[in-house]
Amino acid sequence: MPPRHEESRAIPLRGPDGVRPMHRVLPLEFQTIIEPFRIKSVEPLRFTTVDEREQLLGRAGYNLFHLRAEDVLIDLLTDSGTGAMSTEQWAGMMRGDESYAGSRSYLRFLEVVQELTGFEHILPTHQGRAAERILFGEVVRPGHVVPNNTHFDTTRANIEHFAGLPADLVIPEGMRPSDEHPFKGNVDVERLEQSLREHGRERVPLVMVTVTNNSGGGQPVSLENLRAVRRVCDRWGVPLFLDACRFAENAWFIKQREPGQSHRSPRDIAREMFRLADGATFSAKKDGLANIGGFLAMNDEALAERCRNNLILTEGFPSYGGLAGYDLEAIAQGLREVTEEDYLRYRVRGVEYLWEKLDAAGIPLVRPAGGHAVYVDAKALLPHVPPEQYPAQSLAVELYRAGGVRSVEIGSVMFGRPRPDGTEEPAPMELVRLAIPRRVYTQSHIDYVAEVTVAVADRARELRGYRFTEAPRVLRHFSARFEPLATQAAECLSG
Ligand code: F0G
Repeated sequence: MPPRHEESRAIPLRGPDGVRPMHRVLPLEFQTIIEPFRIKSVEPLRFTTVDEREQLLGRAGYNLFHLRAEDVLIDLLTDSGTGAMSTEQWAGMMRGDESYAGSRSYLRFLEVVQELTGFEHILPTHQGRAAERILFGEVVRPGHVVPNNTHFDTTRANIEHFAGLPADLVIPEGMRPSDEHPFKGNVDVERLEQSLREHGRERVPLVMVTVTNNSGGGQPVSLENLRAVRRVCDRWGVPLFLDACRFAENAWFIKQREPGQSHRSPRDIAREMFRLADGATFSAKKDGLANIGGFLAMNDEALAERCRNNLILTEGFPSYGGLAGYDLEAIAQGLREVTEEDYLRYRVRGVEYLWEKLDAAGIPLVRPAGGHAVYVDAKALLPHVPPEQYPAQSLAVELYRAGGVRSVEIGSVMFGRPRPDGTEEPAPMELVRLAIPRRVYTQSHIDYVAEVTVAVADRARELRGYRFTEAPRVLRHFSARFEPLATQAAECLSG
């Protein structure tokens, strides 16, 4: 991948003493940013034809979650649990200690997580949403409000499960795909303050900040914003929790974009991010570089005790929390590797590389590129398909039909809400997310994805809307079925 222009210019060729620092000159003398690994084990891809994919889509009810993975050529459904592990992670798995209580692997996991986060109580969980369920189950009561920049689907659903009210308080730029802002995931501190004034601390059990802001385009939150949120939480006596799934990518953006932060290591920045909070939920399937796992962490002893009891009841003993010892090893090693600069430079630049190709073709995107994914603005690309006919679903289906690329809808299928009159409140944005698994696809895979997306975008006017034929009440995007609308005109007549 070519470097970003600024980055190549910003690299000093000589140290302050005028001597070329050899360890830095070697990788930086050349401009191309390469994958900082080589490949030892490969997994073949299976090619299908457009006709085959057409049939497979029909059988899947036009829901890409119902496809078999082997029928997908390039799988950008999620960056969660889909990464490739390193040799050291696999080696760690062989060292896994499977003792029920107090295993070596748990102690290694604990040491790494505590060094990184600084939290006193660390509860391993089988993945992020288990941490959310345990935390919200202990603190959310009916009518409670939980502010966040933007809740992801599982946090939102878990809060609603306990009859709480999730409130999305991202800055206005965060809701407008074409607006440029270096920290588009920032919390609107004014609105947070207002929310606390309106509901009082009795009805706000905690404030969350999601780093990076997944549902808002994988956009980062600045340290300055985290500090401002911290001050509001302190004033109101309300704890602050991070939804820290992509903390390392967020730290890299802070290093790149926030004034006064460029000299710091991503790990140092990440450590500060965690230390501004009272606790965190974490899915190790993202920046844990593991295929499964997560944790719930906090400083509050009494709350930790309640959560631990809940954990024992539902996940497992506190020294494994629903994971095998070898999973804890993989996470411990992954959390060491994920903050390495060579890795983060490649990771974030790789996503941006796809973003630039689509942007150059004039495809409307969430600007700028996110840390883990490129988000296509389907509302802008398919203006003839109204939100009630799910333009982002239509585009996601077409990317699969045309090129075997699986993406995910983040729009009204995922976040639409029924109104009392039976109609539906559309989501604020209609996005298709192309999430890039970590250390899995090469540059030519990404070139292919760009080619498919540009070809589909070129005939966007031909794409039609969809309607639900089956839709469960909770998290419907996972299991719903759809039917294509024959033509816009036919739908207008029937509607
Ligand atoms: N929070 C955020 C911001 C997430 O992106 C996710 C998962 C979770 C919490 C839940 O973690 O999957 O381990 O239970 N996001 C995945 C995605 C599923 O595709 O973005 P989990």
